[in-house]
Amino acid sequence: MNSSLPLGVLISGSGTNLQAIIDAIERGELTAAIRVVVSNRSDAYGLTRARRYGLPAVVIPHKDFSSREAFEAELIRTLQDHNVELVVLAGFMRLLSPFFIRAFPQRIMNIHPALLPAFPGTHAQRQALEHGVRISGATVHFVDEEMDHGPIIAQAAVPVYPDDTEEGLSARILAQEHRIYPQAIQLFAEGRLEVRAGKVIVHNEARFPAATLRSPESA
Ligand code: GRF
Repeated sequence: MNSSLPLGVLISGSGTNLQAIIDAIERGELTAAIRVVVSNRSDAYGLTRARRYGLPAVVIPHKDFSSREAFEAELIRTLQDHNVELVVLAGFMRLLSPFFIRAFPQRIMNIHPALLPAFPGTHAQRQALEHGVRISGATVHFVDEEMDHGPIIAQAAVPVYPDDTEEGLSARILAQEHRIYPQAIQLFAEGRLEVRAGKVIVHNEARFPAATLRSPESA
């Protein structure tokens, strides 16, 4: 029996990715244990989700701290107190400084609702619609010192239609986020991720070189 990877999940909002991680653990597809959920906002619905499963849920309001470093020092202390080995950013809306990132080298993951390096930053889905791309998606990556940047672990693609609304496209992408985030964490838990020269090697990955997504698809 493998031991569970201890996770700390950072949220700011609804926490549907947190829920997907909880569900994957419950189904036995993810060999991990959420040790603590931390939100910088006291009204984040994800806190309710965490408490429903008896998970420690801590609020650390960034506004209570005089500096980013003081806020991050408290975050680090909380994660270390819970013996967290992998930090999972799940809709966490604060930029993390090198001070925080250096405390968990190669042990912070983020999910972004676009195919990075396209459309980093906020409103990635709106950016995709405004640009008129035909395919977008979701990216899980290790966090480095740039925003929405760092070695890419997993991506999933979805079609984009010119008459999509931002909400509709966001929902389509979110469904894929919920699939690839638990998978990426499981790869980490299995020790199958290796970062070499800024790129992720996935050991023993299944390959489907003929798989394609075309958009528009021929009728
Ligand atoms: C997701 O789209 C994620 O990619 C982005 O913020 C959203 C969080 O959603 N960074 P949730 O809080 O997990 O529901």
